[in-house]
Amino acid sequence: MEATPASRDATGGRILEQAAALARHSDAPDHYTRTYLTPAHQAAARVIAQWMREAGMAVRVDAVGSVIGRYDAADAAARTLLMGSHFDSVRNGGRYDGVLGILVPIACVAELHARRERLACAIEIAAFADEEGARFQTSFLASRAMLGRLDAAVLERRDADGVSLADAMRTAGLDPARVADARIDPARIGAYVEVHIEQGPVLLGEGSALGVVTTIAGGTRHTLRVRGEAGHAGTVPMTMRHDALAAAAEMVLAVEKRCAAGGSLVGTVGILRVKDGTGNVIPGEVELTADIRAGDDATREAAEADVFAACDAIARRRGVALERTRTHHVHAVACAPWLQERLAAAIEETDAERPAPRARRLPSGAGHDAMILAEATEVGMLFVRCGAGGVSHNPAETIAAEDAGAAVRALLAFLRRLPAFPADGPR
Ligand code: HGY
Ligand code: MN
Ligand code: MN
Repeated sequence: MEATPASRDATGGRILEQAAALARHSDAPDHYTRTYLTPAHQAAARVIAQWMREAGMAVRVDAVGSVIGRYDAADAAARTLLMGSHFDSVRNGGRYDGVLGILVPIACVAELHARRERLACAIEIAAFADEEGARFQTSFLASRAMLGRLDAAVLERRDADGVSLADAMRTAGLDPARVADARIDPARIGAYVEVHIEQGPVLLGEGSALGVVTTIAGGTRHTLRVRGEAGHAGTVPMTMRHDALAAAAEMVLAVEKRCAAGGSLVGTVGILRVKDGTGNVIPGEVELTADIRAGDDATREAAEADVFAACDAIARRRGVALERTRTHHVHAVACAPWLQERLAAAIEETDAERPAPRARRLPSGAGHDAMILAEATEVGMLFVRCGAGGVSHNPAETIAAEDAGAAVRALLAFLRRLPAFPADGPR
């Protein structure tokens, strides 16, 4: 699916080239990983800021390192449509997750700027500095900070090298005491729209380049710490062991089994660390993460209750201690119907190659910054088809230049038809 730079879609081809250029700013020499406030992350921020300026935007960097470009409306008093996504990544991830939602709006503003065109509303594009939370386990840090809802306790979280978030901010020239300055006045925002790769197979399977998101699945993430008793692998009889790793292994399967109940429910253990792991030592302490999501909160909450009851029973039976900490929680979010309709109309107006008269609408199993912005304004999302079977959070993640170009054309049509937001607040 990966188009060559010489793709017939020049706009889309340029977006793929930009994504490739950004992906070279990686924490690792041999694969793409860009975590919050690393040197590679800061280099990428500078490149994005430059592309925003070249598109005619005024650019600022906020107190947590997000890069925000602004393109004024014809009327200086007009309220703002906020767009954007994140430019951090998971470990060994794909180059389009988040980044596409920054590059597509920038390409739209560049086109408007080239034509000296101003819209009924102002546009701001937020390149959020930390959404995945891969370095400090701080999901949606940047968008939460933008709403003034960041829990200051996260500043004390440490990365795998023991570096605190506060120190990482200082090293990057940010002041952890000024995080509150990232807050914007939500009253000036009329709506938030995020462009994102689908990260699934639906659009690919149906032959649609673009889709409109209906709901975004809510989720929680917990860290479970299992403490048993370290011992000699050769001398402790099997019946006398309190093996933390064997207990954790049962817990991993308990997550998988309960979350295989069907529907939109999913459960994942993404991290499992054995403390002081040694081949001839019975593991004494293990840490694992449990990520549980569903399209509706009731389904997720019921699954969580069952999973943690099963884990507690495993701990009792095996004589190990279990400590559980919730590190992430976000409610399921419904995208505003009026934004869904306008995005669908823009696709139907511009994407002649779509397979059906109506633009595809679909839920998002992945979480996005739109879930946080939904706490302050109405949100909409435009999905772009993924190739390679829809895989994401994987270096095989890919999109076609033609689809990136289709996203620019659809978003431009959406922007040009978007009326001014009412001066006194929500529509
Ligand atoms: O985990 C997610 O859904 C997103 O990639 N942060
Ligand atoms: Mn992601
Ligand atoms: Mn993402």
